[in-house]
Amino acid sequence: MVHEASLSSQATPASLPPSVVTLPQTAQLEALYTIIRDKNTSRGDFLFYSDRIIRLLVEEGLNHLPVVPKTVETPTGAIYEGVGFEGKICGVSILRAGEAMEAGLREVCRSVRIGKILIQRDEETAQPKLFYSKFPPDIASRYVLLLDPMLATGGSAMKAVEVLMEHGVPEERIVFINLIASPEGLHTFCTRYPALRVITGWIDKGLNEKAYIVPGLGDFGERRYCV
Ligand code: URA
Repeated sequence: MVHEASLSSQATPASLPPSVVTLPQTAQLEALYTIIRDKNTSRGDFLFYSDRIIRLLVEEGLNHLPVVPKTVETPTGAIYEGVGFEGKICGVSILRAGEAMEAGLREVCRSVRIGKILIQRDEETAQPKLFYSKFPPDIASRYVLLLDPMLATGGSAMKAVEVLMEHGVPEERIVFINLIASPEGLHTFCTRYPALRVITGWIDKGLNEKAYIVPGLGDFGERRYCV
């Protein structure tokens, strides 16, 4: 029997802001998510199946980058009026979980430049604080794929965007890619940055009292790196 993807763990898609794009909610995709959500899934399977989802997300993210007309000659001697990629891109991972998404980006974008950003909670103010960042020097002229697997409260992602914009990257040139988003985090993030495209694989029900996404998959970094 063929199953449709179940929407039981999701928020209502009708409430999505226009800047948010989800992967096609197929039963195949839900099967991948079911594996990585399962607390009994081995680390090897978690790596393999989360990498499959990351690959889909990266490809979808690239679909939102602009192209320019480009004409080529094919081996048959015919002229093909197609398109070519416009502009340079750069991945920026939010440490540490976002680093897990770098390989997926490198698989589809050869020699892509990667920046990194470390944001942690400031114990005094309870606000996200920038601890470290390293970007390609020409980041202001690049399209940025911002990588973080879990959009929970949105605090780290919003801080990361703030830092990118301070480095000259306009909001419209950033695409934020994540595996699972909470409706609360999406709402906060998209209200603050309405022009910034968000690509997510699945929108879950909400956050628990510890700000974990539910049903979620637990701590992505722990599941991935086993520490
Ligand atoms: N980060 C995680 O790894 N998991 C969550 O559920 C929320 C944030």
